[in-house]
Formats: sequence, structure tokens, C-alpha cells
Amino acid sequence: MNERIAAAEAEALERIASAVDERALEEARVAVTGRKGSMSLLAAAMKDVPKEDKAAVGQRLHDAREAVARALCEKQERLRAEADRKALAGIDVTLPARALPVGSLHPLTLIRDRAIEILRRLGFALADGPEIEDEFHCFDALNTPADHPARNEKDTFYFDSGKLLRTHTSSVQVRAMESSPPPLRIVVPGSAYRRDEIDATHLSVFNQLEGLYVDGDVSLPDLKGTLEFFFRELFGGHIEVRFRPHFFPFTEPSFEIDVKLGVPGREPRWIEVAGCGMVDPAVFDAVCRSRNDRAYDPDRVTGFAFGMGLDRLAMIRWGIRDIRALVENDTRFLAQFA
Ligand code: DAH
Repeated sequence: MNERIAAAEAEALERIASAVDERALEEARVAVTGRKGSMSLLAAAMKDVPKEDKAAVGQRLHDAREAVARALCEKQERLRAEADRKALAGIDVTLPARALPVGSLHPLTLIRDRAIEILRRLGFALADGPEIEDEFHCFDALNTPADHPARNEKDTFYFDSGKLLRTHTSSVQVRAMESSPPPLRIVVPGSAYRRDEIDATHLSVFNQLEGLYVDGDVSLPDLKGTLEFFFRELFGGHIEVRFRPHFFPFTEPSFEIDVKLGVPGREPRWIEVAGCGMVDPAVFDAVCRSRNDRAYDPDRVTGFAFGMGLDRLAMIRWGIRDIRALVENDTRFLAQFA
């Protein structure tokens, strides 16, 4: 029996040693230690070994099996290491990894999110409305008569149905008041559309941010304080803010807001950034008629509203000279905001 064991062990070690790859090694492993393998057959033969020899022969078989198992293990490691070496031949694994391209937020998204964040801290809630609007919400309810130039076919995109692409986000003021009673404090980011010739400062689709605050006793100082705070938070505490009388159909009095700030490489100068004013009583009246109640009775509520172009704010904030850069998706431009 001992000779059979020695012969089987030698044959097994030889077979393992000559395996050229992992597949051949696996075949050797099955042939030696598998259910019908040479070592397993020897183990089965132990039952015929005379009782007095069992301990010694058993020990011998145990040693042989250990040796074979060790050889299998070592050979496997050697084959794997060899395969790794071949796979890496000619590759410098110490080279630093190539950086993965990381995306970044678009400047319009950055400025919009920042503006909303500031206004939310002041209690303004996010609201929105449809981009395909009717004339009532875009114009009539906002005290903008049928002969107003903004309603001209040359300035506005009309559908055959009479609906139109909203020319400003101010239409959402009306919708918000129709659906919620005062007090109301909303901020509305969104697209607006005009038939503008496209050039360095005009696109036919642009982005606005609208605000509205209505309550029992909202005053002009509230408007000034809120918007001065807003623009200082947005552009920095050092800037100056001024309110210049203007006209909008839906507010009375109305103002344009200018900020004085230094664009890189230029003297600080006044730049127009928004329109605003106290909500015109005619707007409240239109809302009352539409709601069919007196919740927005102009004798009981007052409010202020404001609107600004987000594209323009982004251009001022980062010194962008051509508005088209905001829609061209040139990654060389966009990567600067990463
Ligand atoms: N809707 C105006 C525009 O598109 C901007 C604006 C001005 C909005 C005054 C307002 C406001 O709410 O009070 O030019």
C-alpha cells in the first residue's frame, strides 16, 4: 500500500508541475483529489489495510494528500502571478490615473438657485405656471391693454388658438393670486419668450425671476428693503442699489433697479438689473373678478412685485459679454463654472 501511495503521490506531483495553465491545473486537481481521483481511491482502499498497519499507512496517506494539496495551491499562485505579469507587460502601473471628467452646474442654474435661496430665507415660496399662456393672464389681468406694444404680433409668439408663449413670468402673479388667498409671498423662476432679433444681448427664449408679496400692509419701504438686501446678497455687500422711477402697467409706482458694481477691468458703473413696483389696484381688481370674491380687495391688501432677467444677472455676475454663450453648450465656456 505504501508503494501505491508513493507512486500516486509522485504521479500527482508530476502532473501538477507540468500543468501549463489554470485549466490544466484544474484537470489535474480533479484527477487527483476529485471523487474518483487517485488520492480519493487510495482513501477508499484504507479499509482493506490490516488493522495493525492502519495507523502508519494512514499517516503516510495523510502526508501524501497534504503534499499534493500544497503543490496544487502553490502552482495555482504561480500561474496567476504569471498571468498577471503577462497582462501588465508594457504597462506602467505607477502612472497617475487619468482624471475623470466631472460635470458642473450651468451658470444660469447657479444664479437661479442662489437667487431662490436668498428669497426663500425671506419667506418667499417657489411657484410656477404654464409657458403657453392666454392673453388674460399674460396681459389683461396685468392691466396691459389690447393696444400695448408688448402685445404686438411682431413682439409675441401667438398660436392659432389665440394662446401665446408668455412674454414674462408676471403671468404667474395672477395665477398664484387666483389659486391662493393672501398673504402671498412667491418667487417664480421660468422661461419667457419674445420675438427678438438674436444678438449679443438678446435671445428669443430667456429666463426670468418674478417675485410677488401681498398682505394687509405691504409698503414701498418693504419693497426697497427686500430688494436692496437681495442684490447685496447676490453681488456682495459693497455694491450700491438705486431705484429709478419707471413705468410698468401692472405696478404703481414703478421703478427700475440699478446696481453699481465693478465689472473686471472697468470702473464701477450703474447697471439696470430689475423692474419692480407696488401692485396696481387694477391687477387686484382683475384677480377679484376672476376669483369671484373680494380676497384681493385693493382697499384691504397691498403688495409689491419685481421681475428680473436671470441671463442678464449671470452676465453681470461673471462678466459674460455675449448672451449666446449661455445656450451654445460650448464645454470650454461651461468648464469655467466647475
Ligand atoms: N415683467 C417685466 C418684464 O418682463 C418685469 C417686471 C417689472 C416684473 C416690474 C414685475 C414688476 O413684477 O413689478 O420686463
